[in-house]
Amino acid sequence: MSSNITWHQALVSRQMRQTLNQHQSCILWFTGLSGAGKSTLAHRVEDLLFARHCRTYVFDGDNVRHGLCSDLGFSMQDRSENIRRVGEMSKLFLDAGVIALTAFISPFRRDREMVRSLVGDGDFIEIHCNASVEECEQRDVKGLYQKARRGEIPDFTGISSPYEAPLNPEIVVNTGRDSLDDCAAAILHYLEQHQKINPLNTQGAP
Ligand code: ADX
Repeated sequence: MSSNITWHQALVSRQMRQTLNQHQSCILWFTGLSGAGKSTLAHRVEDLLFARHCRTYVFDGDNVRHGLCSDLGFSMQDRSENIRRVGEMSKLFLDAGVIALTAFISPFRRDREMVRSLVGDGDFIEIHCNASVEECEQRDVKGLYQKARRGEIPDFTGISSPYEAPLNPEIVVNTGRDSLDDCAAAILHYLEQHQKINPLNTQGAP
């Protein structure tokens, strides 16, 4: 729809920002059912990264739907638009040298692959927060599964709307079974292994 627009090249590049920050920027894309623990885990990982002087920001599904995406519902089209906007925003954060952590159900493979192709492999780290509908429903922190079972929430993921698990995610964490600390440690380990962040210096040297 937009025409007569040009891209203005910044004087400060992503590379320069990353050098200043002393870590790489990337998108940690948490996907999974409602109540699988995406937000809790994303915030824990952010806390650990922040303690290691990394620049981070968490985009949380419920929060983003209060503002940027408050005009969107839960139809397939609206969810796609939700993910498209978050994908575009995360891409800007990549350029800003930040580690962006996104916690959205993002139930459709096509939408997640769209974001992956928008930013490119390597920058997009898909993290499947694996917990079964039964496990999420048992916790039901927000009481939404109960409502969905009573038919009070249409298109509820896992009940009346599908969740397409990633086929080849960079990381799988079993949030239904494993502890928060173990799941967070697995993600930090991945980031170290892939040179996104510096390994912790356990020798005590500067
Ligand atoms: S997504 O499918 O578009 O990625 P998103 O992560 O933004 O969803 O929002 C999910 C949150 O919205 C859930 O954690 C839940 O609190 C709330 N919610 C409200 N209605 C629904 C619904 N029909 N299906 C799933 N989640 C819903």
